[in-house]
Amino acid sequence: MNKSNYYATPARGTLLLSARKNFTLCLLVFSTITSAYAGQNKTSVEEICRLITPSTTILQPDTCNTWVQCPSSYNDEDLEEGSCVFGLYFNKDAGRCESKETVTCPYESTSNDNRCAFQTDGTFLADPNDCSGYIFCNNQTETRSTCPDSLIYNPEKGACVYSKDYNCQLKPAAVNVSTICKSVAKNTVLADISDCTKYLSCDEESQLISFQCSEGQAFNYSTLECVARSEAVCHPLAPELEPEIDVCGTEDNVLVGYIADEESCSGYYICAKQSDGKPDRSPTYLKCQDGYFFDSSTWSCRNRLNVKCSLDRCEGMANKYANVAGDCSAYARCKNGVTVATGICEGNYFFDERSQACTQQNISYTACTA
Ligand SMILES: *[C@@H]1O[C@H](CO)[C@@H](O)[C@H](O)[C@H]1NC(C)=O
Ligand SMILES: *[C@@H]1O[C@H](CO)[C@@H](O)[C@H](O)[C@H]1NC(C)=O
Ligand SMILES: *[C@@H]1O[C@H](CO)[C@@H](O)[C@H](O)[C@H]1NC(C)=O
Ligand SMILES: *[C@@H]1O[C@H](CO)[C@@H](O)[C@H](O)[C@H]1NC(C)=O
Repeated sequence: MNKSNYYATPARGTLLLSARKNFTLCLLVFSTITSAYAGQNKTSVEEICRLITPSTTILQPDTCNTWVQCPSSYNDEDLEEGSCVFGLYFNKDAGRCESKETVTCPYESTSNDNRCAFQTDGTFLADPNDCSGYIFCNNQTETRSTCPDSLIYNPEKGACVYSKDYNCQLKPAAVNVSTICKSVAKNTVLADISDCTKYLSCDEESQLISFQCSEGQAFNYSTLECVARSEAVCHPLAPELEPEIDVCGTEDNVLVGYIADEESCSGYYICAKQSDGKPDRSPTYLKCQDGYFFDSSTWSCRNRLNVKCSLDRCEGMANKYANVAGDCSAYARCKNGVTVATGICEGNYFFDERSQACTQQNISYTACTA
């Protein structure tokens, strides 16, 4: 990090000392303040910060008592990291440190590998998969046991009891638990960097739920809202929005069927009827085969000389000459299928695309007649 920052050593020591004098209350909650990358978790913290509102404070992944404040803008890289004082856990939903008894640390309770990692020695935990099972924690290691005689484990009493004396409800394990959601407050809204018309939100169970913006809208990542596509600024990591295809009309004037593409003489869209009665926003796009143009009046691909098309008639002609719409004595010189110059046959001659020559013969292809 080459940017200057307030808390870099050696200034940090002095700053903390003066802070201790003046902000004792504050230090009860946040004991250390450092500005630094988030150590080993640099990548994942930065990934999370890129997706959420700047300056949001999140739980440092894989910890229960360390927080990170995301940079104040997406262009900035200065993270601030802090840890709760002894006995407190960071409550990501409240954005502050609180007594560890009242905070559910997602890294503590959802790790299937080692539920004892954050527990003090001698702690008993309920087995989340088995009402009669319990877990004993010692030296950060778990030992599983089962209550005898079909008794069930009551975590409130820390004892095996008759099943009538405790209502054991196994919560189905949450699916789609996301590492991002474990660190951010519930209901946090995030950009979906795979698709700008979608966004994500973390539910109570730390599951990432996908949402789709309404038709014609896309997700503005800095305001975290769906707005009209034309006004949306997509997340920098999301692919650009496909240009909106509006050939199939508007909500007031829905077009269904085969529509010329207005850009070439051979391309056309198939506008399908939508069940909601709205225009097809993703019509199939096709082109007539070489030598054929799309004819809207018959919905056909026809010989190019039999179709009026005032767009570039050099399409498909490579480096040859083509007739020009509206004037059968004019010709267009084509280069790589694009008109580069036009000319007129001399002496009242007509131009014939078939023979590639000016001719005395009266040429009156539909393509070039007025
Ligand atoms: C605690 O576990 C560690 C390895 O996880 C081991 O090295 C250490 O000896 C253990 N301590 C006791 C007291 O069992
Ligand atoms: C979990 O996520 C996958 C892919 O993102 C999705 O297809 C599936 O429906 C989700 N399951 C639940 C229960 O949300
Ligand atoms: C979308 O976000 C940009 C900032 O990136 C903001 O200037 C603009 O006003 C937002 N658009 C809407 C419609 O909210
Ligand atoms: C060429 O033919 C068209 C119809 O086929 C006719 O209208 C036109 O007058 C003719 N032009 C000349 C110069 O003979």
